[in-house]
Amino acid sequence: MKILIIGSGGREHALGWKIKQSPLVSKIYFAPGNPGTKQIGKNVSIEVTNIQRLLKFAKGKKIDLTVVGPETPLVLGISDVFRKEKQKIFGPSRKASQIEGSKTFSKQLMRKYKIPTAEYFSFNNFSEANKYLQHAKYPQVIKADGLSLGKGVAICKNRKDAEKFLKQLMVDKIFGGSGEKIIIEECLYGQEISFMVITDGKDFLSFLPSQDHKRLNENNQGPNTGGMGAYTPVPFLDKKLIKQIEKEIIIPTIKAMAKEGCLYQGILYPGLILTKEGPKVLEYNCRFGDPETQPLMMSLESDLIEIILAQQKGNLKNKKLIFKKGFSIGVVLASAGYPEEYKKGDQIIGLGKVNDKDVQIFHAGTKEVDKKIITNGGRVLSITAKSITLDETIKKAYQYIGKKGVYFKGMQYRKDIGKNGLIFGDKYD
Ligand code: AMP
Ligand code: GLY
Repeated sequence: MKILIIGSGGREHALGWKIKQSPLVSKIYFAPGNPGTKQIGKNVSIEVTNIQRLLKFAKGKKIDLTVVGPETPLVLGISDVFRKEKQKIFGPSRKASQIEGSKTFSKQLMRKYKIPTAEYFSFNNFSEANKYLQHAKYPQVIKADGLSLGKGVAICKNRKDAEKFLKQLMVDKIFGGSGEKIIIEECLYGQEISFMVITDGKDFLSFLPSQDHKRLNENNQGPNTGGMGAYTPVPFLDKKLIKQIEKEIIIPTIKAMAKEGCLYQGILYPGLILTKEGPKVLEYNCRFGDPETQPLMMSLESDLIEIILAQQKGNLKNKKLIFKKGFSIGVVLASAGYPEEYKKGDQIIGLGKVNDKDVQIFHAGTKEVDKKIITNGGRVLSITAKSITLDETIKKAYQYIGKKGVYFKGMQYRKDIGKNGLIFGDKYD
């Protein structure tokens, strides 16, 4: 089979690495890909939002299956366009992707179908939202309705901060149209986890739970980022809690989407918070998580293509997702300055020093110039390792980071990826 993977991040490199191991696959293309994906397939220079060119490419090369990494093309309707032309594609329709593309849509869905989430109000008018903020109990969480690269959310400690962020969204429009509608919701407390399932709209299979590290610095301090690292599985999420999440969140969501005429087919990934009252949904994503996919692909034993093909046929009921024993973690190496304006163009050294099949370096913001790999983005690489205990796995990844391993000038990374899991134990069954 010929596969086209859309995207250029660490998630897409990890998906490609896993897909390449399938005996069903003969060739992989990445649009646009990165220097890491170039080593396992062919990069084609088409942007993820150029749906017509992607379609033309897929038809021209007789691609058997297109796998979509990021949310933007899904929210723009790439799956509908491909399916209309009988091109097989893995990812939800435009209507179904609203679950990530519009927070108003997803909050209304959860309210209507009693799926546990934070209490909220929605507004499309600055002065009404501002009036609400005058009498609210703080902290309050304010969210832009539309996609805003993970930056359209602020936890506001007091009225002054809340009004400032509201003005940025609704008056200054720093995220453009994304901030025309907003949500104001109660602040929830607990461990945050990522829970991904693959679904054909009826049945689903759950991936191992994982945990991202969204803040820039150790102990969850500093600004929010796209994610500084992740590990899987999560020791404090036992089988009982997984069953509860499936019963109270996953199944009702899939059923609700079908009932609303938005049959959900693809990856459904709710970001969850484990509150004292039980798991609640913080947000939904309509695709694989980044950086969670990097360790998840290292832990996945099953052939991903075989599973996706079953999903395409509506035949997930007869399949099982099998995972390797032990843990995987991925540590993100980021450029100086990230998540604000960051530096580019520094040479990355030590990429050839890793020679262990259980350690993979997945590229994201890198570029090849004169046979050298240089930094070219905020999140540059993720050093991803797999082993048996969580403690060993953490050590395995970190031994390759720094001047004796992989290094570039100004490199920043968190030293505590996975440590949260250690507090709760080093075992998982
Ligand atoms: P979102 O894009 O909705 O996932 O929000 C980004 C981050 O903001 C989440 O990963 C949480 O850390 C935080 N967050 C969002 N909503 C809430 C909430 N209601 N209570 C506490 N933290 C939240
Ligand atoms: N891990 C966060 C995200 O993929 O949205």
